[in-house]
Amino acid sequence: MSKNIFLIGFMGAGKSTIARALRDEYGMHLIEMDEQIEAQEGMTISQIFAKKGEACFRALETRLLEGLEGEENTVVSCGGGVPMRQENVAAMRRSGTIVYLSAAPETIYERVREFHTRPLLEGNMNVEYIESLMAQRLPNYLSAADITIRTDGKDARAISAEILQSVMQHD
Ligand code: S3P
Repeated sequence: MSKNIFLIGFMGAGKSTIARALRDEYGMHLIEMDEQIEAQEGMTISQIFAKKGEACFRALETRLLEGLEGEENTVVSCGGGVPMRQENVAAMRRSGTIVYLSAAPETIYERVREFHTRPLLEGNMNVEYIESLMAQRLPNYLSAADITIRTDGKDARAISAEILQSVMQHD
């Protein structure tokens, strides 16, 4: 696979898990945006939000994406808020195929409820909040996506095979 794949979708949609499956099954390079930003800043995402603010975090995301041109055979696991900025969508489009991983709010809740690494969900850990933030973001996810893959009830191997097949057919 010479092209890059950008996995977008809500927190807990399975982007990191699927990105690892694409690396392990198909030998793609992996970029996990949150991890890369944490390593670069020497802080967790929660610390960046608390100490530098969300706007700073969003600027770091954009800078990372804009620096990816020239990459090949890479799967990028994007933070859930990435498609909310048009410059991010443009940067992804320039260097690869954008795949939206969808999941029902109930599925998301089950996947994220035990974790306290996502500042936007702290104090909001319930299906209603997830549903309303997802509804707000859905138009951006859908308009950014070249391909949409439903993840509910499927395992990582099946999803990664489906992604690869769809990406190859896409252009
Ligand atoms: C965010 C999603 C998180 C992380 C940050 C903000 C969002 O990444 O970037 O907490 O705005 O949806 P994951 O989608 O990998 O959880």
